[in-house]
Amino acid sequence: MLHILFLFSLLFSISNASVTEICVADLKGPLTPSGYTCKLASKVTAEDFVFSGLGKPGNTTNIIKAAVTPAFVAQFPGLNGLGISLARLDLAPAGVIPIHTHPGATEALFVTRGAITAGFITSANDVYIKRLRKGDSMVFPQGLLHFQVNSGKSHAMAIVSLNSPNPGLQILDYALFGNDFPSALVEQTTFLDDAQVKKLKGVLGGTG
Ligand SMILES: *[C@@H]1O[C@H](CO)[C@@H](O)[C@H](O)[C@H]1NC(C)=O
Repeated sequence: MLHILFLFSLLFSISNASVTEICVADLKGPLTPSGYTCKLASKVTAEDFVFSGLGKPGNTTNIIKAAVTPAFVAQFPGLNGLGISLARLDLAPAGVIPIHTHPGATEALFVTRGAITAGFITSANDVYIKRLRKGDSMVFPQGLLHFQVNSGKSHAMAIVSLNSPNPGLQILDYALFGNDFPSALVEQTTFLDDAQVKKLKGVLGGTG
């Protein structure tokens, strides 16, 4: 009897596992904290597990002289439910990925070209900064503010991996100056002066 129960529970756990191994995102469905709902199994193809978008450089003709090309679940539906994602960073000379956080993921970065100075700030306000060269890796713990700047003379590139298919990206400057957060409150809550706040809102497209 015990043997039969054991066999049943084993079979159940095997069939249960095979149901949840694959859950390709149905991007038309809602995005919940546990990811997207699964695309119908009959509609899943090998292409769902392949993403070619990191093969070409991002466009760095912009104010930050840099580009982040995400391979998050929205671009790469096969990542749904798997706790992982990727992105490509391109930084032209003097390029900057401004201070930002991924609320949902730790990030590991691998420099594939050039030199990048990267750092992060803990909630105890300790700062860890390092100039990285091609071949170097650095890790940025979940949720912490961090940045990357090109500290060489040529184009720099890195591939990052994040331990969530939907890591989120919040850029500090845009949170403060790229929206309709009223200037008077920005000034009161940051201790910056009016001229500085108005200038940054002008540059980053903020109003108010
Ligand atoms: C890159 O972005 C700039 C500014 O938006 C645009 O003028 C240019 O055509 C883009 N280059 C490519 C190759 O897409």
